[in-house]
Amino acid sequence: MSKVTVVGAGNVGATTANVLVTTQVADEVVLIDIKEGVSEGKAMDIMQTANILGLQSRLTGVTNDYAKTADSDVVVITSGVPRKPGMTREELIGVNAGIVKSVTENVLKYSPNAVIICVANPMDTMTYLIHKISGLPKNRIIGMGGALDSARFKYFLSIALGANATEVEGIVIGGHGDTTMIPLTRFAAYRGVPATNYIPAEQLEKVAADTMVGGATLTKLLGTSAWYAPGAASAQMVAAVLGDQKKLISCSCLLDGEYGESDLCIGVPAIIGRNGIEKIVEFDLNEAEKTAFKKSAEAVHKTNEALKAAL
Ligand code: LAC
Repeated sequence: MSKVTVVGAGNVGATTANVLVTTQVADEVVLIDIKEGVSEGKAMDIMQTANILGLQSRLTGVTNDYAKTADSDVVVITSGVPRKPGMTREELIGVNAGIVKSVTENVLKYSPNAVIICVANPMDTMTYLIHKISGLPKNRIIGMGGALDSARFKYFLSIALGANATEVEGIVIGGHGDTTMIPLTRFAAYRGVPATNYIPAEQLEKVAADTMVGGATLTKLLGTSAWYAPGAASAQMVAAVLGDQKKLISCSCLLDGEYGESDLCIGVPAIIGRNGIEKIVEFDLNEAEKTAFKKSAEAVHKTNEALKAAL
């Protein structure tokens, strides 16, 4: 029996629950929110959808009763406020740090062995915060950002190449921020062939630039931050853990010397399986990529410093 808890029944949390139900990844899913009735309502709506689709799934919505989340194998933390147009993810720290702290404490009271997937923004810093307050082994806390950013990179790449997105390779490392993420253009490929064999370098740079502001572009269009791909990317990570898929996914990991950094959660390629982060994969970065990573890490360190004031 596998059990997943999704904390936060806002757009991202509800979409995560919806994808988990429709892809039948877990035996049981619990959607929990502090707002009276919202998680119950969304769970009911999703379960009625599941019935229409003929799916055998179990999703329960609960208001703030963490006892109902007990013994979860994976917990996805989406709680907190999303950004509004013109805001950076980093600006959310003041509100979200306190929320993520109390959610983490509640979650661990009832599911001490869970793998935690952090989605709340600023994502790398919230992942770091969960490490700091929980003291859990570092493999059990994963930040979701890189999975989403890599999906956006592949989306823009597929359009530039005129190719099927499932046949395109693209990975984004670094911080989950408009200026900190690093779409690795040198590794962008179409069926193993470098993307630059098909499109000019300038066009590939434009793909990278569009990827970096991918979340901001959607926030501007929608008036709030995106939820379909963030929810799907979170569910993809849950599936990788529960299914022990050993999938290489870019995600925020606590570094201990890898990529020359320590005491920092930031996006790097990692093998995700039943233990969470099974292994951090060290790509052979060139000098420009190393410099970009160092700059990104400095920015994330700086946001982490703001944690002290936010808590
Ligand atoms: C985004 C938010 C979820 O990038 O960080 O859409």
